[in-house]
Formats: sequence, C-alpha cells, structure tokens
Amino acid sequence: MNNNNFKRPIANIDDATAEQITEVLNNLLANEYALFTKTLNYHWNVTGPRFHSLHKFLGEQYHELLEMMDGLAERVRVLGEVPHSTLKKMTKEMDINEVTGNSLSSSEMLSDLFNSHMMIQSYIKTSITTDKNFEKQPGIEDFLVGLLNKHEMMSWMLKSHLD
Ligand SMILES: [Fe+2]
Repeated sequence: MNNNNFKRPIANIDDATAEQITEVLNNLLANEYALFTKTLNYHWNVTGPRFHSLHKFLGEQYHELLEMMDGLAERVRVLGEVPHSTLKKMTKEMDINEVTGNSLSSSEMLSDLFNSHMMIQSYIKTSITTDKNFEKQPGIEDFLVGLLNKHEMMSWMLKSHLD
C-alpha cells in the first residue's frame, strides 16, 4: 500500500497534486472572500421598503459564506498546504469585481450577488469536471460538491427575492 510515508494528512497524494489542488482551492477562497465582503457591504448599506427583511437575509448569507470560507481554508490545511490568509493575496487573485454598495438599489445588489454566486458555481463545476486531480481525491471533490450545493441554494434564495 502506497501511503507516501504519511508526509501529508491525505493518503496517496503526491506533492505536485496537493499543490495543484491548493491553487484551485486558494483561487476559490479569494473569490469566496470577495463575495463575502460584498454580501456584508450590502447587509450594511441596503435601503428601501424591504430594508428589514433584506438586512436580515443578507446577514444570514454572509454568516453562511464565512462558514464556507472557513471550511475551504481548513481543507487546504488538510492537504498539508497553506490557505490564502492575507488581504493582499485575496485581492490579487479574486476575479469577482467589487461594487460600491451605497450606489445600488436593493434589486441591483441582489442581482450582483446572484451573478457572483453563479460565477463561483461555474468555477467549481469546471474544476471538478475538467481537472483530473479531483477524481483521484474524492474527499476534496466531495467537499467541493457540498460547497457547490450551498451556492446553488443561496442563488435560489437570491433569485426568489428578484422574481
Ligand atoms: Fe449586522
């Protein structure tokens, strides 16, 4: 049985694979961080007749995103690697653009969040379907599928506010 002499906490993973998967997870973490910050921004700055319900709803969403980011960063630790942990690294790698919160209507805020969730969904789907590293690491793949599921649920809730 190949156990890599237990150099890392995951069985049957080589250094190159762990590093390649980490690159994907860290890029995802940077984008989760962008979405988290954006959701927090809108929780603070949303206005209008739906203020109370949207403020509460966005509060729940940013808490959920924080839990998701925490889990993602810890999956990188499980790989034996280091998650992005500074603003500098996060901002350098994020693809999701920030928008100034106080210039948007509540519906524009929700649409912007919805689009960002869809971008992250696409990134996760592309990664797990095209990157062969994930097939060989079902623990990491399963985590990403769980994360994707959460984003799909959150997108549904955002869309339901917009219909
Ligand atoms: Fe709050």
